[in-house]
Amino acid sequence: MTSQATRNLATFTLHDGGGVPLVLLHGFPLDHRMWAACAGYLAPGIRAIGVDLPGAGHSDLDGYPPSIEHAADAVYRTMIAAGEGNAVVVGHSMGGYVALALAERHPGFVAGLGLVNTKSTADTDEAHAKRLRIAAAADASQTVDAVLGMPANLVGATSTERRRHLFPVLDSWIRAQSPAGVAWAQRAMAARPDRTAVLERFGSPVAVVVGAEDSITPLAEAEHMVRAAGSPAGLSAGDAALTLVPGTGHLSVVEDPQAVAAALSLLHVQVVAHH
Ligand code: MLT
Repeated sequence: MTSQATRNLATFTLHDGGGVPLVLLHGFPLDHRMWAACAGYLAPGIRAIGVDLPGAGHSDLDGYPPSIEHAADAVYRTMIAAGEGNAVVVGHSMGGYVALALAERHPGFVAGLGLVNTKSTADTDEAHAKRLRIAAAADASQTVDAVLGMPANLVGATSTERRRHLFPVLDSWIRAQSPAGVAWAQRAMAARPDRTAVLERFGSPVAVVVGAEDSITPLAEAEHMVRAAGSPAGLSAGDAALTLVPGTGHLSVVEDPQAVAAALSLLHVQVVAHH
């Protein structure tokens, strides 16, 4: 695995190959490492670049106010600076919010979209308020204690029973995050708008992936995105695929990396065929 810091965001080659890369954006409160096992299962020849979003992993916060739009612009700038003209942008949960913002703000860059355990809708008032409480707690305590309990909700019932080895790994990834990064991400997510219309306008292949046991971004949210991407108003009618990953929750990428990699490899084939 190689790493380079480019204009604030750290990038990591997680799978070697050529042509249009997959750019893998992580969920909260994690970093690129959540994608490493999944990338290892991609079909041969597919290049995969993991990115640490602002304030996560090896990427600094750069003084911008918290915003998903800023995160999307930072990914775009980082990739352009690295010589990548376009990419299949794949986001898990919070990474999916960033992927949709990228498709909205830099449509020419996004050759395909992978939306994994995520949603295009905005927060409810209750979710919004909870995020601001978590951000305030991280700021006040200067710890990530407020999010240490998350893994119990992130993984599904099957993993809770049969994949206990994931818990210490997730715990170590979360403990490695900075309180400032956690607060920034919560405030950024709280401020994001509904981006369902981005999918209605998107003209390239879309893969939607969801864990069958995901209670955070459940199947109904995935179906909503598939309908939007394949809606008659959209240019991409028929191009949106839905993959339901059995035995996994919100962290399907980590719980069953091989199944998610299969869906993303297929998306890559579709993007290459589409161009
Ligand atoms: C994530 O996995 O990125 C978060 O659960 C997203 C969110 O809080 O909406």
